[in-house]
Amino acid sequence: MGTHIEPGYARLEPQSKQDEAKLVSGIKAVDHYLAPGMKVGLGSGTTSHWFVRALAPRVKDGLDIVGVPTSNATRELAIELGVPLTDLGQIDRLDVTIDGADEIDHQGSMIKGGGACLLWEKIVAAASRKMVAVVDDKKVFDTLGRFPLPIEVIQFGWQSTERLLRELFVSAGFDAGVRIERRVKNGALVVTDSGNWILDCHLEAISDPLALAPRFNAIPGVVEHGLFTGIASEMIVGHADGTADIVVFDGARK
Ligand code: 5RP
Repeated sequence: MGTHIEPGYARLEPQSKQDEAKLVSGIKAVDHYLAPGMKVGLGSGTTSHWFVRALAPRVKDGLDIVGVPTSNATRELAIELGVPLTDLGQIDRLDVTIDGADEIDHQGSMIKGGGACLLWEKIVAAASRKMVAVVDDKKVFDTLGRFPLPIEVIQFGWQSTERLLRELFVSAGFDAGVRIERRVKNGALVVTDSGNWILDCHLEAISDPLALAPRFNAIPGVVEHGLFTGIASEMIVGHADGTADIVVFDGARK
């Protein structure tokens, strides 16, 4: 692959065309959005990790920034690469959060949580003046929903929470048989960084994400959901040919 970064520790190469597009998006985020003195939310997932890897050599060269990670995995990567960290208790607002998405539409609504980090991701984004999504061009859709919507739920009484979610989906016009699955990885239930479970909801097409998003948090047992609306103000779409486009969403936080 053509693009690589030299973090000063190891030469890192994308392993696929999609990886290449993710890396390009991460590099563009570092170049376009970061400035000395900034406090930066560090997203989770592979694209965000390319961003952190692209950031590390700039830090080594003297760029003065401090990051707040959105998962334990990102914290570990940042520490390994020498990116200085703080936490939300030590600062007021973050200047910008750079984070990935599983799907994003042309208005900036996103499905997130493919890496089970949606709760911390949403908290960090909410603490930021600006949130920029870093994606490859396979993540941009007219309509969200092919990627199952992750919902983080308390373990206690999860079957009841699932039932209430199904009722919500039916009242919002989805099929009563909508598939809802507790997330399993390598044969074990996925436990989030906050000790909860993830219910993946196979909705297929979410025609009105803005109307659906506010309804989940009324259900006891739902900790947070992976529908991020009105949060991203811009996205960087990386392409495998090494180019990346910046898209600014109308009406979103600037
Ligand atoms: C993790 C996330 C990620 O941002 C999302 O899953 C995208 O991941 P990737 O960049 O690996 O495709 O929301 O909870």
